[in-house]
Amino acid sequence: MKICIVLGTRPEIIKMSPVIRACERLNVDYFILHTGQHYSYNMDRVFFEQLELPEAKYNLDAGSGSHGEQTGKILGGVERILMEERPDVVLVEGDTNTVLAGALAATKLHIKVGHVEAGLRSYDRQMPEEINRVLADYCSDYLFAPTENARRILIGEGVPDATIFVTGNTIVDAVYQNLELASSRKNALNDLNLEPKKYFLVTAHRQENVDVKKRFEGIIKGLERVADEFDLPVIYPIHPRARKMMNHFGINAHKIKFIEPVDYLSFLQLEAKAKLVLTDSGGVQEETCVLKVPCVTLRDNTERPETLAVGSNVLAGTSPENIIEQAQFMVTIENRWNNPFGDGKAGERIVEIVEGVQG
Ligand code: UD1
Ligand code: UDP
Repeated sequence: MKICIVLGTRPEIIKMSPVIRACERLNVDYFILHTGQHYSYNMDRVFFEQLELPEAKYNLDAGSGSHGEQTGKILGGVERILMEERPDVVLVEGDTNTVLAGALAATKLHIKVGHVEAGLRSYDRQMPEEINRVLADYCSDYLFAPTENARRILIGEGVPDATIFVTGNTIVDAVYQNLELASSRKNALNDLNLEPKKYFLVTAHRQENVDVKKRFEGIIKGLERVADEFDLPVIYPIHPRARKMMNHFGINAHKIKFIEPVDYLSFLQLEAKAKLVLTDSGGVQEETCVLKVPCVTLRDNTERPETLAVGSNVLAGTSPENIIEQAQFMVTIENRWNNPFGDGKAGERIVEIVEGVQG
């Protein structure tokens, strides 16, 4: 049994790290195929180094481009390597162009596909991620649903029950495995002169937010109002897409502290000690829920409804009024919710299922 782990972006490296660690621990025959969708040091290598992950056997260096161009490059590159390596199973994680191309390349070669984080739906086809995750699910032989809710969605779409495995989300493993390490290693708050619970943390990078001037401006105005209202620092490690689009639109923001994207241990510390996190990231909605930090999501919908159900997260969209209103509400709540994303053993479970030990 040989497994190929396809990954290409920051969240895939982080969320696949527990699967990679499980492969190492269980002495599985596997290799990593990096598509190179993300390539800047602080979006890619820093995570391999800090999480001490083995090097990818292949890197396609696909880089950036339009959706068709990027997906096409990855599709051809993954296919070439799969034809050489002939693994038994290809694992993909999440909803990026890397995931769609990896799953499609494998299934056309009649190689089994395992989709980690299957069954998530925003029901918003304007999002490239929604199209990617739906198609990846339909290419898959093993659907690793993080929650019972995701399983129900798949069943509702006619996916055979026997191919669905509720494993928990590997982000819980990643948080548990790295949080302790984070507190023992360095102090990201000191570096930024921050005091616990006396700052807001922001991430926003989604195409439908930052590529649309009105929406991006709405977010920035909302964040500036949060900075004013609470008289506390608002820290925004800015994704390269968002940086590029801010410059492109000529958006200025003087009350927000922009920093470069940070390494995972620093980000976990910043998240865990924030008064509130405002984000449009999928992974950050989950992590804040696990870390028991309230979250305001800068979107109109979410494919992580479990966070809304337990009360760790609310949707604010991108209007400044809604953002400030939801922030005011979320700083008052008690963080008594239970984490709905599993016990932190998803990585091991996934590898065992694929290896046929379980399931
Ligand atoms: C991609 C995913 C998104 C995911 C995000 C994680 C798709 C369709 N989108 O979005 O679902 O949430 O990754 O962060 O797959 N860039 C750099 N350096 C890099 C990577 C990107 O400078 O290492 C810049 C380039 O200008 C590029 C832009 O960011 O054009 C967008 O990169 P791309 O990979 O197309 O999409 P993301 O916005 O990163
Ligand atoms: N993250 C990080 N450094 C940062 C911002 C985010 O390590 O400066 C991590 C974060 O902890 C989470 C992941 O990146 O695990 C989320 O990735 P992203 O928001 O890029 O993608 P999404 O989850 O929206 O697909």
